[in-house]
Amino acid sequence: MTTVQQVVLARRPNGVLQPEHFSLKATDLPALKEGQFLIRNLFLSLDAGFRQWMNAGASDNYLSEMPLDTPVQSIVLGEVTESLHSDYPIGSLVVGRTAWETHSIADGSDLMTIIQPNENFGPEHYLSALGPSGMTAYFGLMNIGQPKPGDTLLVSAAAGGVGSLVGQIGKILGCRTIGISSSEEKCQWLQSELGYDHVINYKASPGLDQALAEMAPNGVDIYFDNVGGHMLDTTLKHIALNARIILCGAISQYDLTGQHIGIHHLWELVTKRAKAEGFMFSDYVEEYSAAMEVLGHWITAEQLHAPVNITHGLASTAEAFCQMLTGNNLGKSLVKLC
Ligand SMILES: NC(=O)c1ccc[n+]([C@@H]2O[C@H](COP(=O)([O-])OP(=O)(O)OC[C@H]3O[C@@H](n4cnc5c(N)ncnc54)[C@H](OP(=O)(O)O)[C@@H]3O)[C@@H](O)[C@H]2O)c1
Repeated sequence: MTTVQQVVLARRPNGVLQPEHFSLKATDLPALKEGQFLIRNLFLSLDAGFRQWMNAGASDNYLSEMPLDTPVQSIVLGEVTESLHSDYPIGSLVVGRTAWETHSIADGSDLMTIIQPNENFGPEHYLSALGPSGMTAYFGLMNIGQPKPGDTLLVSAAAGGVGSLVGQIGKILGCRTIGISSSEEKCQWLQSELGYDHVINYKASPGLDQALAEMAPNGVDIYFDNVGGHMLDTTLKHIALNARIILCGAISQYDLTGQHIGIHHLWELVTKRAKAEGFMFSDYVEEYSAAMEVLGHWITAEQLHAPVNITHGLASTAEAFCQMLTGNNLGKSLVKLC
């Protein structure tokens, strides 16, 4: 019998998420059934989006409210150590959606894929540029943003797991990139390490509205929105004719106890003949391998960097997740378990 260590959602957040909302637990896993396999998890992916489903009443058409006292849902990377599933032999490296735990039982559903080892990439690549964050950045930008050389591309949460990739992809495709983040240090990093043309520290003077007027006098052609709320509303005032707004996430809203705030500048979409479209990275699962080929080529050509922010040990997971939500990360946040 395998004893698994887990991080469970112990208390429902009512506002800002804190490490105290989680606790560690040890559980004995049941024996595998036919069609199942056991994964020894090597890395946990910290994805801001899961914060939304920790709230009371958060169930929607995509995921259900996370139940209390059960391990927190998460994308993981691990190795198959026991198997009663012929497609997932022992020794396979897999990425899929299970939970914050040392071992997971899976059946091949829930975004589970086998990774083919490639000497050019480390395991962390398969949770960053070649994993869910990369798929989110790539498909959101390519399919909804439809970037063209010379487009002005604005990215919020630009230094995070998704945002750090969006700006670089836009730059490779010839866009003029503007990244938004919360400190001078992060803004400097966006320019020096990720090649952003311009940066905006939204917490500093002159503020987002004024900075956008100065940096995008002809308007923003593509806005990759990771933040929602007031940042989205302000940006709408600065969109160009035929702008594309990629609705990827709304991190500024996940700690709210009531409804997300209303957006006031929708009229701009009408007069600018613009479109705003939401998506989920899982919509494109059939096209992941094609995207991974393109992204992998950019990585080996050293055009695309996949910055990661690694924390060690399951016990650090809750703290690391809360830190990421408050912006204490450069690039994709991961927890290394082994
Ligand atoms: N649609 C999809 O399929 C999909 C898939 C994955 C992720 N997402 C979304 O993508 C976004 C980024 O996710 P991630 O996992 O890559 O997280 P991340 O960007 O690595 O971390 C979150 C970042 O958000 C910024 N932030 C936090 N609160 C903010 C606020 N009130 N205003 C402005 N910025 C704030 C912080 O950066 P600063 O220091 O710069 O403020 C923080 O580093 C999230 O909205 C997530 O829901 C969507």
